[in-house]
Amino acid sequence: MMKRALTICGAVLTAVFALSTGAAGRTVQGGETQRTCTAEDVRNLRDFLLGKPCEEDLAGKPYDLNGDGKWNAADLTLMKREQLTAKDSSILVAYFSRTGNTEHIADTIIDLTGADCCVIEAAVPYTDDDIRYQDSECRANREQNDKTVRPEIARMPENLDSYDVIFLGYPIWWGEEPRIIDTFLESFDFSEKTVIPFCTSASSGIAASEKNIAALTEIGSLLPGKRFQGSASAADIRSWLDTLELPAQKIILEIGGTELTVTLADTQAAAELAEKLRDGSVTVMLNEYGGFEKVGDLPWTLTRSDVSTETVPGDLMLYQGSQITLFYNSNSWSYTALGRVTGMTQEALTALLGSGDVSAVLKPAH
Ligand SMILES: Cc1cc2nc3c(=O)[nH]c(=O)nc-3n(C[C@H](O)[C@H](O)[C@H](O)COP(=O)(O)O)c2cc1C
Repeated sequence: MMKRALTICGAVLTAVFALSTGAAGRTVQGGETQRTCTAEDVRNLRDFLLGKPCEEDLAGKPYDLNGDGKWNAADLTLMKREQLTAKDSSILVAYFSRTGNTEHIADTIIDLTGADCCVIEAAVPYTDDDIRYQDSECRANREQNDKTVRPEIARMPENLDSYDVIFLGYPIWWGEEPRIIDTFLESFDFSEKTVIPFCTSASSGIAASEKNIAALTEIGSLLPGKRFQGSASAADIRSWLDTLELPAQKIILEIGGTELTVTLADTQAAAELAEKLRDGSVTVMLNEYGGFEKVGDLPWTLTRSDVSTETVPGDLMLYQGSQITLFYNSNSWSYTALGRVTGMTQEALTALLGSGDVSAVLKPAH
């Protein structure tokens, strides 16, 4: 399964690295050089710094991000900071994990969905003593006993504007979400987001924390959460992901300065199109054809799953694998569905497209 690349951009960086995990680099803009790293790289560097054994051979890895000749905590901080600002996907996995169990689940969700990652870390990290719950006065216990406590978060994304779906992960502490999750929830506007909680625990369920989360802030759509054992397999996590009804992905089609929203179809080609556009917008010259469509060449070939279709106005179709067709009238042929323009009448669409050829910019939804 493809792993979403996290991107570190900057003038100080001098090379494009394609890491052994198969991470893909993204379009380099403005002549800047760029390097990519993955959640796995963050884990590798962290484990290395903690002196933990690593299954992978790390020799030659480009983890000296600040160029001081050493791998150290500063490099790890840079990597994590970039994780907070990388905006590759409309899905975000935000999680807090003190002993690594929830992190394992989060990493797998990221691997399976291509989501971006936001590690929620306390400004004052939780020490082992802080979470020694047998001690009634330990920090975690004191915090859990006071619903008003909001532990400060070390680094936060500026906003979550580019994300539609947020997986929110945490360990269960005394039956509930750790208070730092409440800090996170109160720091952003979730009123138009889909939030999906997940947790790990020794045995407790997720229900009490779901109830707290629902009461804490306005959430567009709070999907049922899932409790995992720390050792859950990728197959377990995948089966759960398969049950989720995630909102359809969207892209933007800009024609003559008007932005049309395209709700993507549930096809491989549509997913590939969304993925391609995350690397940057694409301009396509759409030629008038037949009094019912505008059709033009894509710069890539997408996976065909053609079916005989009678199109309706607003349909965006893939034709012969490498052409995109926007219908303002109907036609019967074999196409692969890419999506449909929403929120526009046939008359308005026809008027916008005009009678001749037209230039269209395909863009990610954010
Ligand atoms: C302070 C504290 C309280 C906990 N309370 C519970 C609990 O009420 N129920 C439970 O099943 N596990 C409880 N646990 C166990 C954690 O939920 C479990 O170990 C979890 O997987 C840790 O996740 P992490 O490795 O991502 O930090 C508690 C752990 C700590 C440190």
